[in-house]
Amino acid sequence: LSVPTDAGAALAALRRACGAAPLLTGVDEVAPYLSDHRHLYRGQALGVALPDTVAQLSEILAWCNARGVGVVPQGGNTSYCGGATPDESGTQLVIGLARMNRIRAIDAANLSMTVEAGCLLASVQQAAAEAGCYFPLELGSAGSCQIGGNLSTNAGGLNVLRFGMARDLTLGIEAVLPDGRVFQRLRALRKDNTGYDLKALLIGAEGTLGIITAATLKLWPAIRTTATAFLAVPDVSAAIAVLAQLRGAAGERLNSFELLPRAAIELACRHIPGTRAPLGLSNEWYVLCELSSFVDEPLDELLQQALTRAISTGQVLDATLAANEGQRLAFWALREGIPTAQRRAGLGVKHDISVPVSALPAFVAEASAWVRRAVPDGTLVAYGHAGDGNLHFNVNWLDGADAQHVATQEPVIRRAIHDLVAAHGGSISAEHGIGQLKVDELRRYTSAVELGTMRAIKRALDPKGIMNPGKIFTPS
Ligand code: MLT
Ligand code: ZN
Repeated sequence: LSVPTDAGAALAALRRACGAAPLLTGVDEVAPYLSDHRHLYRGQALGVALPDTVAQLSEILAWCNARGVGVVPQGGNTSYCGGATPDESGTQLVIGLARMNRIRAIDAANLSMTVEAGCLLASVQQAAAEAGCYFPLELGSAGSCQIGGNLSTNAGGLNVLRFGMARDLTLGIEAVLPDGRVFQRLRALRKDNTGYDLKALLIGAEGTLGIITAATLKLWPAIRTTATAFLAVPDVSAAIAVLAQLRGAAGERLNSFELLPRAAIELACRHIPGTRAPLGLSNEWYVLCELSSFVDEPLDELLQQALTRAISTGQVLDATLAANEGQRLAFWALREGIPTAQRRAGLGVKHDISVPVSALPAFVAEASAWVRRAVPDGTLVAYGHAGDGNLHFNVNWLDGADAQHVATQEPVIRRAIHDLVAAHGGSISAEHGIGQLKVDELRRYTSAVELGTMRAIKRALDPKGIMNPGKIFTPS
């Protein structure tokens, strides 16, 4: 690091490099940027730069690169994996993207929009809606996460089943590379076979290859009709059978299929005011599913018929359709309240795993049996995007447990669950990324060929290793 050793001189130099971009250095103003949303990590930083133009960001990165100063990009700071938190050295610069928040263009005829990284996901959705279009990325944190972070982590969420993950929703990217050069490829094209897909590489790179500053996103026509149902199912196998039946009946109209165990619904009802269980709590497993259409069509009837058939074969035990938008939102508030309810309920261990949908029943059976046997004082709260094979296979200590006990148990539980995931051909991070939380897990479950290739790409794009050091892999 060749920042002057005198802290005052370092800051003066950094301030000059930031030019017109504010540089926060006061203890109180910097504090919110130094820890993550789950309070797993707490770091220190030289300061927090808040550029609002690509040119400012480019100057800052060029300055940091010339001096080997580590840079930590931060969007809405909603990472589950500490991906946006600086280390404890106090030598890294946090770069907040919140001021780069313009909607640059919307082209309804081309079904595309170009937005800056610091736009809240909710603002992107709203701008699309105002133009008579629909942007389908949907997460519980839409009101606080930023699209740049969504892209950097290739976020998933509630509509992946139909629309794919953030990478699938992106046509073009603008990013500042570590040496300050600007990668400009904001083409609004659905067909573009011109060499390596570098935008796909920058998406999901968690800020380790450069900083995404803007993106051209795919839009769809506005949604005209939805049909939403809450189901009780006898077990996970039945849920997966119902998924296939709904696909058969509704085709691509099926956009969400969330699996919820009783424990998750109970937690939400207990900890999120105004929440209630639509079908009571006498079953072990529930499903929240939704169909939507770009045209006016009788989706409620379609869903009702499919569910009546599933009830007659015993694959669905009970079902209720949202009778109006209020009920629909209440179903979703229950689902989206689960992570908050879990936090309020006390200590826990979280996982973000995926396996092929066909392997979900066996995986859940084996992993649940392991948890029951090995963690008798824990409660399994395994819920999530079953339609994509992605579950948040979490264990909570609901009767209170001391932090030391949880800290001892955590690695044992993580190892057992992730080994089972690997045995079923799954992933240890389906949608939350690696950050700093899963660096060791990535190393354990990824082949030397893959890791070596990733490191080669990292070295090629960021030879000085300034970009988000310690995220995805330990600095080499
Ligand atoms: C969710 O699906 O609710 C989120 O990915 C958060 C989580 O519970 O891990
Ligand atoms: Zn999720």
